[in-house]
Amino acid sequence: MAEDILICNCNEIYKSEIVKAIKEKGLKTVEEVGEVTTAGTVCGECQEDIQEILDEINGR
Ligand code: FES
Repeated sequence: MAEDILICNCNEIYKSEIVKAIKEKGLKTVEEVGEVTTAGTVCGECQEDIQEILDEINGR
């Protein structure tokens, strides 16, 4: 992987973990990503970034 970036500061979730969860479990929403990885479930500030990753993978 070229780069891994910290997406969720609250729970220390990196982009690679989110990407993996989305691909493995076929996640479609920010809420689902939160349920699986806990990313975005504290302050919510990273939810926009999570949405971008979802769009990147699922196409939009
Ligand atoms: S940075 Fe992800 S919930 Fe706060």
